[in-house]
This record gives sequence, C-alpha cells and structure tokens, in this order.
Amino acid sequence: MFLVLYGATGDLAQRMLLASLYFLERDRLLPDDLRILATARTNQKTAEFLRSSRERLALHHGETAIEEKAWERFARRLSYHPLDATDAAALTRLGDDVPALKEAQTVHYLSVAPHLYAPIVEALGEAGLAHPRARLAMEKPIGEDGESARRLNETVARVFAEDRVYRVDHYLGKETVQNLIALRFANSLFEPIWSRAHIEQVQITIAEQIGVGDRAAYYDQAGALKDMVQNHLLQLVSLVAMEPPARFDPDAVRDEKVKVLRALKPFDRASVAADTVTGQYGAGVIDGEPVPAYLEEAPGRNPLTETFVALRTEIMNWRWRGVPFYLRTGKRLAYRYTEIFIQFRDLPHSIFPPETSAGIRPNQLVIRLQPEERVTLQVMSKVPGLTQEGMNLRPVSLDLSLTEAFADHRRRIAYERLLLDLLHGDATLFVRRDEVVAAWDWIDGIRRGWRDADMRPRPYPAGSWGPAAAIALTERHGHSWHE
Ligand code: BG6
Repeated sequence: MFLVLYGATGDLAQRMLLASLYFLERDRLLPDDLRILATARTNQKTAEFLRSSRERLALHHGETAIEEKAWERFARRLSYHPLDATDAAALTRLGDDVPALKEAQTVHYLSVAPHLYAPIVEALGEAGLAHPRARLAMEKPIGEDGESARRLNETVARVFAEDRVYRVDHYLGKETVQNLIALRFANSLFEPIWSRAHIEQVQITIAEQIGVGDRAAYYDQAGALKDMVQNHLLQLVSLVAMEPPARFDPDAVRDEKVKVLRALKPFDRASVAADTVTGQYGAGVIDGEPVPAYLEEAPGRNPLTETFVALRTEIMNWRWRGVPFYLRTGKRLAYRYTEIFIQFRDLPHSIFPPETSAGIRPNQLVIRLQPEERVTLQVMSKVPGLTQEGMNLRPVSLDLSLTEAFADHRRRIAYERLLLDLLHGDATLFVRRDEVVAAWDWIDGIRRGWRDADMRPRPYPAGSWGPAAAIALTERHGHSWHE
C-alpha cells in the first residue's frame, strides 16, 4: 500500500502530516506494507528530506518524541521524489519507477496550494495512477465559493469516484469532536432533550490568539468567513444539530449532516446587517506582548479582509426552529479556546421561595475542544450547610476532564485519526461533495449580503473579544457570549 504525499516540503505536510505519520509509526498503527512517497518540486535526495523532516519534528514535538527505532522504521518506508505533480509526464515516470503504484492500494494526498488540485487530479488520471484502488485526499479549501467548488468536484469526479475522495477538515479528527458524536449517540440521556423544546441557545466559538502569520497571501483573499466558518464551524454545527444517523458509517452520517447545512436560514442584505458582525484586528496586547494591527503586519494588506466573524443563525426544521445558533471565530482574540455551549431553557416553574429562586440558572452543557478537552454540565445544587432561611441554591459543574480521565493517553494530532481512516478507507470523518457545496451556498449568501449592504469589518484591538457589536448581537436577544 502507498501514500503519496504531494507538497511534502510544505508547512502543513511537515508540521502535521509527517509528524502524524511518524507518531502512527511509533505506535505501530501503520499497515506493515505501507510505503510513503513524499513528493515536491524541490530537488533533493531522500536522505536530505528525512534529515530536515526530523529536525522539524524535533522542533515542534521535542527531541524526546523521537524514538530512534521508530524513526528508523519510518525512514525505511519513506522515499522522496522531486517532481511537478501537475505534469502528467512526471507522474507517468513516477509510475514507471514504482510500477506497483499503477495497481496497488494508494492514497494520493494533496497538501498543495488549492489552485493545483484540479491540474494534479487531471495529471493523475492521465498518468494512469487514478485506478479503482487509488484514493484522493484533499485539504480545505475546496473551491472559494459554490461555483468553483462545484467545478472542482466535477473535475475530481471525472477522475475519482466520490467514494474514493476524502475531503479533509481536520476538526473532524479532533478527539473531542468525535466525542461529541459519542456524547449525543452513545448516551440516552441527551437525545430526548436535544431540541427547541429544551434548548434555549447554542454557541460555537473558535477563538485564536495567533494572527495571520506567514499565510497572509492566502488569508488576505479568504478572510475568517471562508477560512473558518465555511468548514470548521459549519462542521461543528452539523454535528451538534444533525438527526441521529442510523449507523456510524460514511453515508448515514453525512446524509444527516448535509440536511442541517441545507436547513440553515439563508442570509440577505437586511439580515446580514442585523445578524452578522465582522471585524479586523488593530494593534493590541496579547499575553502582555504588544502586537501590530493586521494592516501594519505587512504592506499591501486588504482593509476589507475580516479576521473576525460573529453571526446568529437558525436551523429551519422541526427540531431547531427558533433556537439561535451563535457562531464566532477570530484571530488575535484574548485567548485560545474552542467550545460548544448549549444552554437549556429556564425552569418552567420554581418550587423554591423567591429569595432562593433568584439564584437558579438554566442548565448548561459546555463541550471544550481546546486548549483542554472537557465536558461540563452545569446543574443547580444545594449549597452545603444550614441557614435560617432554608435551602441555598447555586450552580455547580459536573465536570469531565477528558484530559485527566484519560491521562495515560497521549493527546493526538487530529491528522493521526484522519490518516488512519484514510489508509483504512473509512470516509465517515471526511466531507462529502454535497456538504461542501451546501456550506458554500450558505456562505455565498452571506458574502452577497455583505457586498450589497456595503459592510466593512469593524476594528477591534488585538487581545480583546472582537468588536463591541458582537456583544450586542447576542444581547439583543437576551443572551450573552459564554467566555
Ligand atoms: C485552519 C485555518 O484550517 O485552522 C487556520 O486555516 C486556523 O487559519 C486553523 O488557525 C485552526 O486550527 P486549530 O486546530 O489550531 O484550531
């Protein structure tokens, strides 16, 4: 079996993919017969590639992460092949050098700039490497709007059958994201109350402290809506809101997810003004360090690129109608955390006297994805001890720290799960073509609305929680962000 990695010298491949493959090797999870062919345009020998990959691994994970024996096994499986993958002749030569590539189980993993996806896929087809035992993995973004995503899907479909195409959203490989599926569908507790009858609001936040860094060329064109909402945030929305699938298999799960995406309330010019807020970071302070404004980080930055988005949406179906879903993401925010917050409805009636009832808060379920992995259910409890007035009530947390509960488990890189599934041919945690298109169609509506309403990002200081208007977005509806 082969894994051919295109763009192997790039940042994602080095930081995430090769590191994940090495850790899988260390844990002896890679198929014995797996050979890894790393390709990129840089002309170098396998030994040089391995040397620099090892240095990167040590840099990001520490020298102690590298076990000599495991690294040797890893190095034996890997060879580096300098080539331009958009050139069918170069891929044909690769096939001639490694003839088994023309028929053996193979994963072609594109970790290259997205504009190269279509030419590489076509070249793979021409070179005879896209045979029925070959799979294709592609990183986000798949297209930059609905139309280009459809076009890319078409090109891919001419070469690879859909059940051989694995669109990667690395959030789906995160342990706590899978745990959300376990929480919802391996417990009978939550499902009966998982609807508008019991849930008051849902919030999903992906807050980052980092800025745009050296990815500005891409980010300045994309902005937070395309970079984070179209994929990671909407994937989380669909997992929170989907109906129970009949089985945990690729089609059953993705059939349910896509229904959620199609049921998202579309935006128009009026609703974007009321229910979305965009921002761009100005200079500020993060962890005590001054950081420059987005526009000052480099010359030529686009003043219209949003580095922050908050929005309020609804899912137009029987289960969710009327429940606000607040989504928020931004760079250079006060601290890094990703969280799904579910607030249940108020008590229908309090049996406690007014002095005690005042302290009663609605139950909350908080699923923290990062930096720590924890699930917290906030319930009301009696404060221990005796008072003249009787019972005192206060919210307390039923706290499940997955990091502590499974302390002997190493926290894995999300890509480890995804690579393993790819090698085993399980597409459940990958994105299907109709999901990508449904997500883009909704995102395109927001972008059209912003354009028609001439909305511009509001400034916010780095190290804050985004523009003040984002706070008003929830407060108008009697809610507030959970931070
Ligand atoms: C990537 C985005 O998909 O996800 C980045 O392009 C973002 O802008 C990153 O920083 C966040 O991933 P994580 O796993 O660090 O939350």
